[in-house]
Amino acid sequence: MSHAKGKGKSAATAGPKPVGELSEKGAAAELERLAREIAHHDALYYRQDQPEISDAEYDALRERNASIEASFPHLIRADSPSARVGSAPVEAFGKVTHAVPMLSLGNVFDDEGVRDFLERIRRFLGLDTIEGLAFTAEPKIDGLSITLRYEKGRLIQGATRGDGYQGENVTANVRTISDIPKTIKSKTFPDPFEVRGEIYMSRAAFQRLNEGQAERGERTFANPRNAAAGSLRQLDPAITASRPLQFFAYGWGEAPKLPTDTQWGVYRAIADWGFPLNPLAKLTNSVEEMLDTYRDIESGRAGLDYDIDGVVYKLDRLDLQQRLGFVSRSPRFAVAHKFPAEKATTILRDIEIQVGRTGALTPVAKLEPVTVGGVVVQNATLHNEDEIARKDVRIGDTVIVQRAGDVIPQILGVVEAKRPKGTKRFKFPVLCPACGSHAVREVNPVTGKEDVVRRCTGGLICPAQRVERLKHFVSRNAFDIEGLGEKHIKAFYDDGLIQSPQDIFTLEGRNRRAASKLEEREGWGETSAEKLFAAIRARRAIKLDRFIYALGIPHVGEITGRLLARAYGSIDAFRGAMLAAANDRTGEAYAELDNIEGIGPTVAEAIADFFAEPHNVEVVNELLREVRPEPLEAIDHASPISGKTVVFTGSLEKMTRPEAKARAERLGAKVAGSVSKKTDYVVAGPGAGSKLKDAERLGLKVLSEDEWLALIGA
Ligand code: IVH
Repeated sequence: MSHAKGKGKSAATAGPKPVGELSEKGAAAELERLAREIAHHDALYYRQDQPEISDAEYDALRERNASIEASFPHLIRADSPSARVGSAPVEAFGKVTHAVPMLSLGNVFDDEGVRDFLERIRRFLGLDTIEGLAFTAEPKIDGLSITLRYEKGRLIQGATRGDGYQGENVTANVRTISDIPKTIKSKTFPDPFEVRGEIYMSRAAFQRLNEGQAERGERTFANPRNAAAGSLRQLDPAITASRPLQFFAYGWGEAPKLPTDTQWGVYRAIADWGFPLNPLAKLTNSVEEMLDTYRDIESGRAGLDYDIDGVVYKLDRLDLQQRLGFVSRSPRFAVAHKFPAEKATTILRDIEIQVGRTGALTPVAKLEPVTVGGVVVQNATLHNEDEIARKDVRIGDTVIVQRAGDVIPQILGVVEAKRPKGTKRFKFPVLCPACGSHAVREVNPVTGKEDVVRRCTGGLICPAQRVERLKHFVSRNAFDIEGLGEKHIKAFYDDGLIQSPQDIFTLEGRNRRAASKLEEREGWGETSAEKLFAAIRARRAIKLDRFIYALGIPHVGEITGRLLARAYGSIDAFRGAMLAAANDRTGEAYAELDNIEGIGPTVAEAIADFFAEPHNVEVVNELLREVRPEPLEAIDHASPISGKTVVFTGSLEKMTRPEAKARAERLGAKVAGSVSKKTDYVVAGPGAGSKLKDAERLGLKVLSEDEWLALIGA
């Protein structure tokens, strides 16, 4: 890598104090400065291709950081440059839309969770017993998932998971991994075929890589997974080639013809075609065998040369997998049985109160940095006011920290024996630390209970809430504007450039007329400014579900966003219906919203509340002057029930209610809970009661289960 082409600006290390002479305070300050400065140069180098300093100057900064860290290991920061993944920016790779989405797995944490998982399958399929069904059991590799596409037996594309629907094209890089076959000669190899699996780095290779990096004064990695991710996402495939990456296959994506009808059968075929399969994978025939395999794999964990974080079980029969399908982003037929989280103790230095986008005050523990499961932890969540009181967590306490996978570390409790004298109970603030407004705990009108969350009442006058809303608006599953990250949002907000979502879209026009230009700001140039404007322009057309999610309505996550987008179809229909629902909570529009399957009263209420606020409506209207939300593609255009509303009533005999609902949704229908004029089909089984009467009264089309199955061609 070259940091050259410098403008000659010095690395601001003029006459630094020798590390040996630094006081503890001085060292902490210096580490903070170095973290900031190195991040600044990384941004210039990676994002803008405009380095200001030479490679040697950059290396000197890193060396100084590393040597201070070596002398003061307890001061190593969570954002330390030495722990950061040295990857190229996301924008550098082309995007790949996955033919079959790359979703994730649900987790369970104990034997009971595994039994519940089996019971859910039994119920969904309407079986008397789960006995006799086989499951595969295999380690969950702690790496990063990849999909490899083969056409006519040749590897033509490799892509990362990304958001599950779109990933990054890393073909040139995966070609450098020797575990991955480039051509497959077998006659039984399907065409096309997408193999999916995990790319990982062995612990030994990770160790060696870090040693080499440190020797060269280059960044080291926090753990093998970060090292694998950083190595795969290199712009220069030669660098990836120099990093020892490995691969285990565990599944497939697009695969029109499979050679067998079981997971285990496909595993054997995948191994025959030359892909590495994990040697610990097993076929199990009972819950006891599943749990035994879990315990075997767990007890061998420390002796493996790669990191694993649990065991994955998958129902072996593919026909049943198909029937079970997915719930939100995870399959019903597979689950990850995670190993217990790792723990450590450290000192709680302070409790910081953060203000979220809906005004929620969240206490964050600021910790003496501590390594938990290979990662330096410096912040942990304390959840809420009651949690702090219940655990009686005090500043100065020695606390137990737990970290599990990617989730935010948590404070489990206090080591009371180590409590210093003179500590006081923590007093949770009743004023918002960002804007000074009262922060209150609302009382739920139905239950009469106080909300656990204390919220700032400042609304739009609260700068913290406004900034958080903007961050949410541009986040990955919302508008996902490349090059407009959280830091930029904060800086633009502070400087008055972007105060409200619509300002993002007027930025370019205003910049043209402005006296002080974006391209003149520190860290920006003409190329980077133009790149940002192009990224913003690209988002003027946006899918309706993302648009709805981006609004940041409380309780409306991605899944609800998608439900609403599907239910209303267009932005005009959605906006009109929401205004009507907000205006009259006893009217038809509100009833219809509340009636959408998957949307409960709390969510319906939150949406109506949002649209009852004139300033929210104004933001939506202003935004719609700038962007065009587009309807989602129907799930299955060819399906005879695409876009139709279906109500099931009475008992079904060929499949359970959840399965019937899931199947209808997969074919593009909406499944409603009650009958209205808008219902297209009522499927009535034995024992149907009032819904059937309603349907008859309204003159709706009523089908038997068999007629229904014939209609959908099942
Ligand atoms: S099966 C529908 N099997 O875990 C998803 N995943 O949380 C099917 N992973 O993104 C995934 N080892 O990156 C599966 N043996 C294994 C795995 C595995 C690691 C990762 C994978 C996935 C994540 C799911």
